[in-house]
Amino acid sequence: MITRRFVLIVQGVVIFHMPTETQTLRLALIGFGTVGQGLAEILHNSAAMLAAQHNFRAAIVAVSDLLKGALYHPDGLDIAPLLEAGRAGKLAQYPEQPGLVRGLDALATIQQSNADTIIEVSYTDLKTGEPALSHVRAAFDAGKNVIVTNKGPVALAYKELAARAALKGLYFGYEGTVMSGTPALRLARTALAGCAISEVRGIFNGTTNYILTRMESGATYTDALAEAQRMGYAEADPTGDVEGFDAAGKVVIVANVILGTSLRMDDVDRTGITALTPADIDAARAAGERWKLVARARRTPEGITASVKPERLPRSDPLAAVGGVTNAITYETDMLGAVTLVGPGAGRRETGFAILSDLLELAKLRTEG
Ligand code: HSE
Repeated sequence: MITRRFVLIVQGVVIFHMPTETQTLRLALIGFGTVGQGLAEILHNSAAMLAAQHNFRAAIVAVSDLLKGALYHPDGLDIAPLLEAGRAGKLAQYPEQPGLVRGLDALATIQQSNADTIIEVSYTDLKTGEPALSHVRAAFDAGKNVIVTNKGPVALAYKELAARAALKGLYFGYEGTVMSGTPALRLARTALAGCAISEVRGIFNGTTNYILTRMESGATYTDALAEAQRMGYAEADPTGDVEGFDAAGKVVIVANVILGTSLRMDDVDRTGITALTPADIDAARAAGERWKLVARARRTPEGITASVKPERLPRSDPLAAVGGVTNAITYETDMLGAVTLVGPGAGRRETGFAILSDLLELAKLRTEG
């Protein structure tokens, strides 16, 4: 396991080359639902490739889930039986072994385990951010890196949390909060760095995009929503999707993280899709347009404004071509004009991958020192 090569050069000749070992990241998962299990599967299935190609190693030392129970072993949990117990919804089924601790709650897991990185994948609450917000603060207080896919803490307290992380030299990863593993934020943070971005617009909610796509083919709103729920895309309470709260949380994240502003959820001019009728859909089609629930944040002379509302887009707009549960983001830049990224916005493997992409960034930063 090589992190750095120490090279001694004497008069231009390399005479000494000493590899050192990388540390294995020790992860604690707060929440073990779809996303947590998706990450565990990826780490399990891709361990050899990640080690060989990226020199990356991680162990899950703890899992704490409000409903399924909790496990902690300082040397790491065995992922295969952990996944089996997770699928059964009962971490109590995980086999007994010396040194195994059961039943630690989320805060105890964050504070008492030997994890160096906390993966916060509990449920999202966009009103209070809790309990995830307290988990993230506790993790930084305990000197631990944090990766979230939970939108609440980032939508409500990005500046505060980023400052806490920076103060202690800790990593704060949140790629999965917008468009899951599709690198919507990383695209702007890395590849588009150096461009001035004047506007970001996107389709950030798969459920509503699915409903609108199905309504174009003649399905009723109610049937299309039921289908989206069956596919597991809709939030537990689909009001968050259809009234635009989920997309509003994501546009606040993009505005604050990428455009560097300090918007709150209430600052978003928000309208959902519930008032759209089949006649509206037909009228747009007749005009060569499509209704999309567009999330938009733009720089104006008065500052950055944000909205989430149904908009009729010409079919020539790349966002108009995005159908079903797929998401998309367009960055309006000075150097390149419009740059659009299209990809999944949710899912077990897709959101698990978002965490992996943050973990790889964290491991790289640690290696580079
Ligand atoms: N309910 C969300 C959607 C899931 O439909 O896009 C991802 O945040």
